[in-house]
Amino acid sequence: MDVAGKKALVFGGTSGIGLAAVEQLAALGASVVAMGRSPDKADNLPAGVEFRQCDVRDRDALTALFEDCAPYDILVTAATGGARAAGPFMEMDMDGYEASFDKLWGYANVVRFGTEHMSENGTIVLVSGTPARRAKPGQVSLSSVGGAIEAFARTVAPEIAPRRLNVVSPGIIDTPMVALQGKEREELYAKNTATHSIPRAGTAEEVAQGILFMIQNDFVTGTTIDVDGGWLLS
Ligand SMILES: NC(=O)c1ccc[n+]([C@@H]2O[C@H](COP(=O)([O-])OP(=O)(O)OC[C@H]3O[C@@H](n4cnc5c(N)ncnc54)[C@H](OP(=O)(O)O)[C@@H]3O)[C@@H](O)[C@H]2O)c1
Repeated sequence: MDVAGKKALVFGGTSGIGLAAVEQLAALGASVVAMGRSPDKADNLPAGVEFRQCDVRDRDALTALFEDCAPYDILVTAATGGARAAGPFMEMDMDGYEASFDKLWGYANVVRFGTEHMSENGTIVLVSGTPARRAKPGQVSLSSVGGAIEAFARTVAPEIAPRRLNVVSPGIIDTPMVALQGKEREELYAKNTATHSIPRAGTAEEVAQGILFMIQNDFVTGTTIDVDGGWLLS
């Protein structure tokens, strides 16, 4: 797909990986609408990108938004959904674990209601994460939610063909998701990537390049690519 002149909707497009995808799509000439819950984050958006306030868990709001934005060709969702539970499973707060699946429900809502108004040759990209296939201790929520997203894409892609549906799986990426600053932030990323083949945090731009590949390559559907600095093999 040549994205120039196409319309793209990016959920979670106001920060981190989603924002980098917005920037790359806009730079290539797409008309981009970015969604998030907080209007404050709309200040991050490049000139010419429209912001729409939307929570991906709100099905009625999503349905109205898709009707209003139609027709469009590209859907990306990187929206984290809500809080995620961390820690050993046997110490897990089960309400927190259940709530971690808001990311899956948000993605499912976007695909379910967004596909209805999408062009026939449209394309969708979701974002999972390396723990889907190689988790560290304490990452059961990231692992099971990410695994569900990848299985979801493999199952739904053939159902919505000729539209395409793919997943990009990032490793540890330096984004505003981590609140620590300065030396503490550097030390966290250094420690958590020390065993990876490329021992540093990736950038949101590197992950967005994977998202753009999935959008642009018309022969790829139902699959996942890893942008993870080698975490899967470490
Ligand atoms: N950073 C990493 O190391 C990493 C690694 C693997 C996978 N990932 C995945 O990559 C995706 C993007 O992460 P990121 O690091 O770029 O995070 P981020 O910088 O925190 O950005 C998250 C974006 O999602 C939006 N969002 C969150 N919940 C939402 C909801 N319920 N409805 C609509 N928008 C919502 C946020 O805006 P509002 O808060 O204003 O809604 C923001 O625009 C996530 O799915 C994350 O799980 C990240």
